[in-house]
Amino acid sequence: MTENHHKIIIAIDGHSSCGKSTVAKEVAKKLNYIFIDSGAMYRAVTLYCLRNKIIENGIINFPRLEEDLDKIKVCFKFNPESQHNDIWLNGENVENEIRLLEVSQNVSPVAAVGAVRHLLVALQQEMGKSKGIVMDGRDIGTVVFPDAELKIFMTANPDVRAKRRFDELTAKGESVSYEEIRANIIERDRYDETREESPLRKADDAIVLDNSDMTREEQLIWVLSQVAKN
Ligand code: CDP
Repeated sequence: MTENHHKIIIAIDGHSSCGKSTVAKEVAKKLNYIFIDSGAMYRAVTLYCLRNKIIENGIINFPRLEEDLDKIKVCFKFNPESQHNDIWLNGENVENEIRLLEVSQNVSPVAAVGAVRHLLVALQQEMGKSKGIVMDGRDIGTVVFPDAELKIFMTANPDVRAKRRFDELTAKGESVSYEEIRANIIERDRYDETREESPLRKADDAIVLDNSDMTREEQLIWVLSQVAKN
């Protein structure tokens, strides 16, 4: 793949924890594209809600969330150490904190709030203006970039996904149970697929990638071969 290949938008949607960000990051690196993890933006808003007690015991205070929306500033900044864009919330790098299980357990209801989606979708569309972007999420091919040149819908068996997320969190030193993670993945998929606002669904023109039995390298090659067809 060459860098003079005309720049396109690559939209990667799919189920929770199936490695969308991992492959999106690798593809972006290969193509010299910008990678945007849209889920990180929903996670940052959720972290804000948890810190400010807008969510307590899993219950969202909707009026307070809407009232505070214009105080929530999320953006990405390049981290030269990791060579990736980290997510920042109101002037603080929260890249690590947003991955905590407590955030995962509260993010889907926050992501179902229309006003939150409108705010973040507008930011995401702005980021895609000059193309050359790989964005992963739940509604990228359906709502954010319905005209994306390449749309991929990723999925994998829930046990494989839970094992991968368990390994990722335990490697970071978080003490989590496999069962709790598996339950969270299934619950988030259910929530994401059945919500009213931009539910998770495969765009009609998306290609399915089930990576249950694929290595990272195999899936990277698969995605790059799809890009080459453009
Ligand atoms: O990494 P993982 O697949 O577990 O999740 P994520 O991409 O970080 O997204 C976290 C949550 O944000 C999802 O479960 C969705 O509820 C929500 N989300 C969304 O609604 N729309 C997006 N474009 C991205 C994420």
